[in-house]
Amino acid sequence: MISILAQTATKGISMPAPVSTYAGEVDWLWNVITWVSVFFTVLIAGAMIFFIIKYRRQTPDDQPHAHTHNTALEVTWTIIPLIIVLMIFVWGFRGFVGMATPPSNSYEVLVTAKKWSWIFTYPNGANSDVLHVPADRPIKLILESVDVIHSFYVPAFRTKKDVVPGRYNETWFEVKGDRNGITAENPGEYDLFCAEYCGRDHSRMTTKVVVHTQESFNKWLEEASNPAAGLTLPQYGEKLYRRNGCNACHSINGSAIANGGPTFKDLFGYPQSLKNGTTEIADDNFLYQAISQPNSHGIVGYQPIMPANRLKQDEITAIIAYIKSLSDKYQPEGEPAEEGASENTVEAPATE
Ligand code: CUA
Repeated sequence: MISILAQTATKGISMPAPVSTYAGEVDWLWNVITWVSVFFTVLIAGAMIFFIIKYRRQTPDDQPHAHTHNTALEVTWTIIPLIIVLMIFVWGFRGFVGMATPPSNSYEVLVTAKKWSWIFTYPNGANSDVLHVPADRPIKLILESVDVIHSFYVPAFRTKKDVVPGRYNETWFEVKGDRNGITAENPGEYDLFCAEYCGRDHSRMTTKVVVHTQESFNKWLEEASNPAAGLTLPQYGEKLYRRNGCNACHSINGSAIANGGPTFKDLFGYPQSLKNGTTEIADDNFLYQAISQPNSHGIVGYQPIMPANRLKQDEITAIIAYIKSLSDKYQPEGEPAEEGASENTVEAPATE
């Protein structure tokens, strides 16, 4: 709340500068509708106030005049607004059709919305939690949701489209690089919001769109195509934990998140009480089942609210490695050697 107020104070409540190729057209029509409305509001309210004063009752026995109509006046105030709204309809419809029809040479990105994060998948299979696109090319977005209705909204592009479970929606945009000062060193960065109330962390379901030059986009895509490069398995798991929004419900410091799931700290290797009355140790297989089949264990104290995911086998393995790295029961190099004999030490047969 405070941060929203602070943002409003610094950025104002107006829309950001128009960035996409059709944003200017949207703003133009929006301004036409606003100013036509302001004009008629002032005109009609002004005329009402003027007539109330001019024709008010002057004396107690002042009688109203008999009214009749004025055909010329009535036809005029019907025809003029009719022409105005028809013009608005035609401009609006043309804009709508243009925004709803991606050009055939578009670069396609799959947008997956889930409670409460965005995942963007590129034609070569790479994915990211921030939308990266090249400038000077129409970008076609296929929108899908794995749970509830979300809405893809980039104010600077004037792009907004619902993301509905059970169907694919489409939208597109194009950003001109030179018009927006986009260079290899200075990619454009714009806010991306979820604009449909989708539950507890709806207001945090935000990310960015980064618009690169074609060359720097190719470079970025190459790096993104190998997300685990240079990372240990737990580090890659942590990246996936953040990218997939697991952090919305699972803390890593032992704290409980309201209406969330178990903390990942000291989860591995510890017994979990299940609602069927049994207890299971959270080992590798327990965690695998918990991630691949959400809510299948029924751990005491938690609601079955974990959303579906589309993690691949190697991604689940990395997340399990990350969870293990957060537990003091995880000792990949074995028990630290203790002074004296350990119980595993095989006694050397006594020789006489
Ligand atoms: Cu997703 Cu609001």
